[in-house]
Amino acid sequence: MVTKKIAVLFSGSGTNLENLFVKLHNKIFNGVKIEIVLTICNKENAGGIDKSLKYGVKPVILKHKEFASRDDFDKKLVEVIKNADVDLCVLAGFMRILTPHFTKNVKAINIHPSLLPLFKGADAIRQSYDANAKKAGASVHFVNEELDGGEVIAQKSFVREVNMNYEEYEANIHKIEYEILPKAVVELLVNNNFISR
Ligand code: GRF
Repeated sequence: MVTKKIAVLFSGSGTNLENLFVKLHNKIFNGVKIEIVLTICNKENAGGIDKSLKYGVKPVILKHKEFASRDDFDKKLVEVIKNADVDLCVLAGFMRILTPHFTKNVKAINIHPSLLPLFKGADAIRQSYDANAKKAGASVHFVNEELDGGEVIAQKSFVREVNMNYEEYEANIHKIEYEILPKAVVELLVNNNFISR
């Protein structure tokens, strides 16, 4: 059987990471098995660390503060990812701006909690909520040198109801993230969609 290997990078609570473990790890799609072989975290206290351990994958902790420069950190990141020989790298709440060294050497996708190209960058949920956007949602995109700027490969939205409070709004966005990120991974790795990048 063909096995496709993925790496997941995260910085925070790791709910997207856990969702990927639940929906994809060691599961078979059209005769292709997907395996999360590597997880990497840049924060030693991130909640996602325990989640990764729970599924049997010990995260590699690379504390960016211990590297002299962004380039040095990314060089190490690329080395670790290359050594794992993965087919795809998934950024699931990995809060780092990546250098061209990373983007040129690693095929990666990212989940972002807005309808890109709207509301790039940190705090996108709060930004769109405060902007009173009528529609909200999440996007999966290829990672390139521009922050949240790579080609969008999956997106889903909902219409914001009048009086929707922030917690409901945020929960709707996360629900969409949990749906479209694993789907995008399967599309890329199993159905060979978007492979022409
Ligand atoms: C997600 O909303 C993701 O879109 C954003 O950071 C959040 C990560 O949450 N980039 P979690 O760590 O997956 O819970």
